[in-house]
Amino acid sequence: MSRCFYLETFGCQMNVVDSERIVALLGEIGYQQVESPDTADLILLNTCSVRDKAERKVYGHLGRFKPLKQARPELILGVGGCVAQQEGERLLEKLPYLDIVFGTHNVHRLPEMVQKVESGRERCQETDFLDGETRLQLFPRRSEGEGIVRFVTVMQGCDNFCSYCVVPLVRGREISRPSHEVLDEIRDLAQSGVREVTLIGQNVNSYGLRQSDEPNFAGLLRQVQKIEGIERIRFTTSHPRDLSDELIDCFGELSKLCLHLHLPLQSGSDAILKRMNRGYSAADYLRKVERLRTVAPDIRLTTDIIVGFPGESDNDFAATLAAVREVGYADAFTFLYSPRPGTAAADYDDPMPASEKQIHFDALLKLQLETSARIWASDVGKTAAVLVEGRSKQGGGQLFGRTTWNRIVNFEGGDELIGTIVPVRIVRSFKNSQLGETLGV
Ligand code: 5AD
Ligand code: SF4
Repeated sequence: MSRCFYLETFGCQMNVVDSERIVALLGEIGYQQVESPDTADLILLNTCSVRDKAERKVYGHLGRFKPLKQARPELILGVGGCVAQQEGERLLEKLPYLDIVFGTHNVHRLPEMVQKVESGRERCQETDFLDGETRLQLFPRRSEGEGIVRFVTVMQGCDNFCSYCVVPLVRGREISRPSHEVLDEIRDLAQSGVREVTLIGQNVNSYGLRQSDEPNFAGLLRQVQKIEGIERIRFTTSHPRDLSDELIDCFGELSKLCLHLHLPLQSGSDAILKRMNRGYSAADYLRKVERLRTVAPDIRLTTDIIVGFPGESDNDFAATLAAVREVGYADAFTFLYSPRPGTAAADYDDPMPASEKQIHFDALLKLQLETSARIWASDVGKTAAVLVEGRSKQGGGQLFGRTTWNRIVNFEGGDELIGTIVPVRIVRSFKNSQLGETLGV
């Protein structure tokens, strides 16, 4: 008998990839994915703990499923991802209706855990970190499926220990995937119709640095450039400290590399950057931006910024505003600092009241919204190359794709355009997307 599961994914692209793996693994034991939790035999949440809000959301969602479980006691409820990794056993203790807790290194154990619960209704938890050798064998590899654009994992984990960040605690140590595997996967993807790959990892810029027999990240990009069928390459996330001149130069040399870079600044104050353990100064960062713009004048940058880090003064915040103004980001993800248990900054003195932090946050957001609107509006009237990904679910079934700057463009056109790069005239710019028309319309 076929059984159904419902899966919700929170957080970053690493969780998105893990969720794709979950779908495949559950398929192997006869579970089919459904769009609603109401009819599911198994409900799973793949969780994020990078900020408090994301974590609270998970508890909220779990509460939502409690009545379902009460009505149908045979329903299996599981939590995976970063909250599961960090909370482990405590989740089972706190939530008596929860059956499964699986950590970030234990996605592959999920089928076995589900079957265990099915047969004996025994609750179970797996949150041990694996050794490097085992992790290498278990790297997510996903050459099947559909789509024009895909994520490809090149490394996992993080060794940077930025003082605010829980990622090294919940994802474990940094490990790079062998380049031949990455390249084989991308060749397979190209064969199955994929035209754009985004190479992902917590800090892709440090790819291969520990293995002398492997290319560094710039070397890997040069290899991907040679793969026939792949038209576009992106990567994320980059650590500014590890953004080498060689990698910057790739934006000028590699025709397939899109002219967009997400480069988290976090703060524009040297004192705060130091206390964040970021390993660069504001001037270092701005020098790299200058070089990027020399090499690729049309490149657009996006960033992450934390407001209200412990000890951040009005002057520190002013330095962040100044840096943001100087760079002129096309988009910025702005976050209020959220203390994470187990991180160094959780113990730092944090005297600024939340209301003052909020004033800073609002000022930054205002500056960014104005900058974003100006940059995206400057595309109106121009023609941009759009890689067409498919038909959008909203917007009356128009085609959608993205420009080299990673902006979604919706426009009218035929199915034959899907998977091709089309010149599209941008006619309007909205907050998160643009409207275009094909030439000649
Ligand atoms: N509080 C607020 N923002 C955080 N981020 C990471 N940890 C925290 C935290 N404790 C932000 C950083 C990072 C992004 C993914 O989330 O800006 O780049
Ligand atoms: Fe977190 Fe810093 Fe690692 Fe990014 S580089 S995942 S912010 S510790």
